[in-house]
Amino acid sequence: MKPDFPVPEHVAIIMDGNGRWARRSGWLRLRGHEGGAEAVRDVTEAAAEWGVKHLTLYAFSMENWQRPQAEVDALMRLLQRYLKKELRTLLDNGVRLQAIGRLQDLKASVRQALADTEAKTAHGKAMTLRLALSYGGRQEILDGIRRLLAESPPDRSIQQEDLAAVLYDPSMPDPDLVIRTAGEQRLSNFLLWQASYAELYFTDVLWPDFRRQHLLAALKDYHGRVRRFGKVLENDPAVHPSSS
Ligand code: FPP
Repeated sequence: MKPDFPVPEHVAIIMDGNGRWARRSGWLRLRGHEGGAEAVRDVTEAAAEWGVKHLTLYAFSMENWQRPQAEVDALMRLLQRYLKKELRTLLDNGVRLQAIGRLQDLKASVRQALADTEAKTAHGKAMTLRLALSYGGRQEILDGIRRLLAESPPDRSIQQEDLAAVLYDPSMPDPDLVIRTAGEQRLSNFLLWQASYAELYFTDVLWPDFRRQHLLAALKDYHGRVRRFGKVLENDPAVHPSSS
């Protein structure tokens, strides 16, 4: 199973539905997050193998800090276990790991585990896997504006490129496709600046059930879209029906 069409350069995913997946079977929410980590592995491997260059996963939002402390702690422990357990898979698949977000909010041990994995995978050439942690799109824009104001003279006119250059990872291209699982249809503060022209894809599949075949379906759907970026394209079937 693999795409027989060009794949987008950057796919970003809002991984939703872990809690519902666990509840469906009468399990604790943590079991859902553990199931979610399995999905992360399969999707990461498939994306790297199929030529996606950037995969960004919304792993812990700013809003997630408001969950019960026991769930926050369990998610952080799961993340540390994942980083340890998956290092080999990341290296074998040429995947470079990068964390984005207000990483200063994370416990020192989690920051250390992330920094270690980033360093060990730094030479990965196939794909960059970005984990958005303690991440919020509005907070990212605000943090960028604060940096800009601290760095540049206040009378300078600020351009889009200036702000883009002070976001958490300026080397990250804008996502082409944003996928959200579990039936909700919103961005929930994810990549608000970068997703301006992203194609959105929603599926009812709960994240722990999401596997490479679901990713393939999303990529196929994306491949069939016409991206106009606000322009009128020549030979656009929607504008020139007879030319299609
Ligand atoms: C949303 O499900 C998911 C999260 C808040 C966390 C995402 C975390 C994982 C997939 C765990 C593993 C990740 C890594 C990188 C190891 P939810 O709990 O909001 O589900 P619900 O809406 O059904 O309650």
